[in-house]
Amino acid sequence: MALFRDMLGSGESLFRNEIALDYSFIPKLVPYRESEQRQVAACIKPLFQQRSGRNLFICGSPGIGKTVACRHVLNEIEEQTDDIIPVYVNCWQHNSSFKVFLEMCNVIGYKFTQNKRSDELFMVIKQMLNKKAAVFVFDEIDKLQDYDFLYMVLEEVYKKAIITITNDRNWLASLDSRIRSRLMPESCEFKPYNSEETKGILKQRMEYAFVPGSWDDDAFAVVAEKAFEMQDIRRGLFLMRQAALHAEERASRKVAKEHVLHALGSLDDFSASGKDSSGLEEEDRLMLDIIRKNSGQKIGDLYRAYQEAGGKAVYRTFQRRIDRFEKDRYVVLDRVSGGAEGKTTIVSIVGDKKLTEF
Ligand SMILES: Nc1ncnc2c1ncn2[C@@H]1O[C@H](COP(=O)(O)OP(=O)(O)O)[C@@H](O)[C@H]1O
Ligand SMILES: [Mg+2]
Repeated sequence: MALFRDMLGSGESLFRNEIALDYSFIPKLVPYRESEQRQVAACIKPLFQQRSGRNLFICGSPGIGKTVACRHVLNEIEEQTDDIIPVYVNCWQHNSSFKVFLEMCNVIGYKFTQNKRSDELFMVIKQMLNKKAAVFVFDEIDKLQDYDFLYMVLEEVYKKAIITITNDRNWLASLDSRIRSRLMPESCEFKPYNSEETKGILKQRMEYAFVPGSWDDDAFAVVAEKAFEMQDIRRGLFLMRQAALHAEERASRKVAKEHVLHALGSLDDFSASGKDSSGLEEEDRLMLDIIRKNSGQKIGDLYRAYQEAGGKAVYRTFQRRIDRFEKDRYVVLDRVSGGAEGKTTIVSIVGDKKLTEF
């Protein structure tokens, strides 16, 4: 059979560095966010002079460079000094005080965390950090279940700057007044990129990620236009990867406009009014429907409901899809331990809850 005759050879690929399309990839340059990065740096600067830093509240919609701008500044600090410890925590992944402390231990390289309670972990963290100074970035901070850790950091870490990031501009107002009055952050709003900026960022990423000349101009133009329309660079990167994978599937040596148009079908439509699942595959839609009806339930129970509704995927595939939904922000997962079954995951649909409830 000639099944494989027209395909790209096994050593050939349109990608030369696929990692560059990863959402967590930090490029060498973060253009168009210079003034925001300067503001972050200004809050940290006093730490270089052995004084305490200032706190900053960053808000803005998803996919517009809040995380990458802050991580970029942290990287620069790391390059410049050993006296200021950057502590970045994604509070979506680490969504309780205990988990935040565990992650902080991980960041500072403390390994003996087993069987320790929150306060014991914090004792270690505090001792380490108080020998130096620390910059905390608490990303997606509205996703936390409790803010005890923040109170403890505010009270007991001396030389610090605390940067909080969220999509929810009302988060600060919802905060316990004891914490708010101690935090007293300046604020910095990230505005969506304009069309030129969107193009510039995606172009830079395209050059990192793909073999030179592998994109048709009009194919790239559609990606940039869509990303601008959705005001979300992350979705643009997703589209770029999907389009190129599709082109490879077709054994094409170039990503053409038709590949992007095809990939658009797999891009969930993320409109300003909320999430619209119309771009999803049938199977995904079935799953999301079931999660929506049973939001807040355990993953095992959801799987049973899914099977009853005629779902065919095996449990492992089901789980993988749920993980992808989490990444694509359709659902939030809460991994809980305890109870008769040991560890389990609670799956909730985004949109049923207000962001501040996570
Ligand atoms: N100014 C920029 N320069 C380079 N890459 C950017 C820029 N802004 C956003 N990105 C990229 O877009 C994606 C989404 O950005 P991110 O910082 O994660 O968004 P947010 O935190 O606002 O949701 C990331 O892959 C990031 O690297
Ligand atoms: Mg982010």
